[in-house]
Amino acid sequence: MNPKVVKLSLIASSVAAALLSAAVTEAVAASGQAKAPAARIAKAEGNGGKTAAPAFPTLAPLPPVPVPADNPMGPEKVELGKMLFWDSRLGGDASTPCVVCHEPNKGWGEGGEISRGYPGTTHWRNSQTVLNSAYYNKLFWEGNVTSLEAQAPAAAEGNVAGNGDPSMMEMRLRFIPEYVARFKKVFGTDWPRITHAWQAIAAFQRTLVSDAKQVPFDRYMMGDKNALSDAQKRGMALYNGKAGCILCHNGPLASDQKFYALGVPENEVFKTDPLFQITHRWEHYQKGVTQKGYRDADLDMGLYYQTKNPKDIAKFRTPSLRELKYTAPYMHNGIFYTLDEVVEFYNKGGGTGPNKSPLIRPLGLTGAEMKDLVAFLESLSMDKPLLMDTPKLPAYQVMK
Ligand code: HEC
Ligand code: HEC
Repeated sequence: MNPKVVKLSLIASSVAAALLSAAVTEAVAASGQAKAPAARIAKAEGNGGKTAAPAFPTLAPLPPVPVPADNPMGPEKVELGKMLFWDSRLGGDASTPCVVCHEPNKGWGEGGEISRGYPGTTHWRNSQTVLNSAYYNKLFWEGNVTSLEAQAPAAAEGNVAGNGDPSMMEMRLRFIPEYVARFKKVFGTDWPRITHAWQAIAAFQRTLVSDAKQVPFDRYMMGDKNALSDAQKRGMALYNGKAGCILCHNGPLASDQKFYALGVPENEVFKTDPLFQITHRWEHYQKGVTQKGYRDADLDMGLYYQTKNPKDIAKFRTPSLRELKYTAPYMHNGIFYTLDEVVEFYNKGGGTGPNKSPLIRPLGLTGAEMKDLVAFLESLSMDKPLLMDTPKLPAYQVMK
């Protein structure tokens, strides 16, 4: 097999053949360009792009983490970022540090279906893992933020997450002498600045990545042919072929960072718990929807909130499939607890709902094939979860 691309012509079944033509249409629509990325890749592969045998970047070990030029890495910055990730003083009432919704022993997520929120609220989505988030150029389920530096303030200031006022948070840092010294060393300023706090947190998160040596699939790709079991190898073939997962979960991150609607069922809590309904309507108010959308508030409209294009209703960013062993429950609303449930969902052709992707259709996998596929998905996680000691946090001091 060509190591760079997975040619979908390898797909044998008729189901997959139907997926093919849909893939091209969908890829064109998703990229909004005349030339689908698939076609571009095919062209680069030297077939002139004419027949456009659709091809997708194959799964592979992750490259070195991308680092923006204006926020270089350094051990002292990473250490400071780690402290701040744990420090509840970055938040409104000092009860919601990043780590409460991104816990190392919960796969750096929150562990619940819908995440907890700022006291007095609930969140309205499943907390994403921050593992490998450094590789995305679109963060959050609706992809509304494009860098970790911009994501951190969105979290610490967002009303249903940290609900902190930036000038108050900055003042707090200035009353912690150890932070004053550390910020000075790392950023060269006399007093801590809140934007530097976000840079330090971003740098720390760039260290939270899968270690290829610990990931069976990556070891396999690096030449250890025994790193995958036979079931996992069969699962990999299904992933790239009959099951068509590669159509969207492709490249080293196993995400094309595009947006699709799968018809994921709504989470019932939005019908049974007023706190969730409050957050849902509040989000609609904040993000601006039509009056009818505001009143109904019966659907997470996903990408639509960003574009206000009805064609984007219920579309979400394709998530990475790395580290799934540690990051249940799954989907934007945490509706599935196991990978078996997820694969069953895809096998029956997804759910129902607006704008459902034509790529999501019944797969015809047998029970044994579904097991193999799950076994393969598990091979994309590290042998052991990435855990970390809780840092010791410095105290406030009276200013004289
Ligand atoms: C109250 C819970 C909560 C707190 C506190 C919180 N987060 Fe999150 N985080 C979430 C939820 C929920 C999402 C998904 C939100 C969405 O997509 O709308 C998320 C998403 C993210 C993502 C995006 C990952 C991806 O795949 O796109 C990153 C990165 C992140 N959080 C980092 C942080 C940092 C850094 C902090 C502290 C400054 C923080 N979070 C504080 C709940 C929280
Ligand atoms: C049309 C593009 C597309 C295809 C094909 C596709 N997925 Fe997905 N996948 C997505 C999107 C988008 C989401 C997020 C949906 C949501 O939360 O509503 C997702 C979510 C997931 C999740 C949850 C991850 C998490 O962190 O919550 C898993 C697991 C998953 N997909 C596995 C698969 C498998 C296995 C296949 C093949 C059988 C597959 N996907 C095929 C687009 C796709």
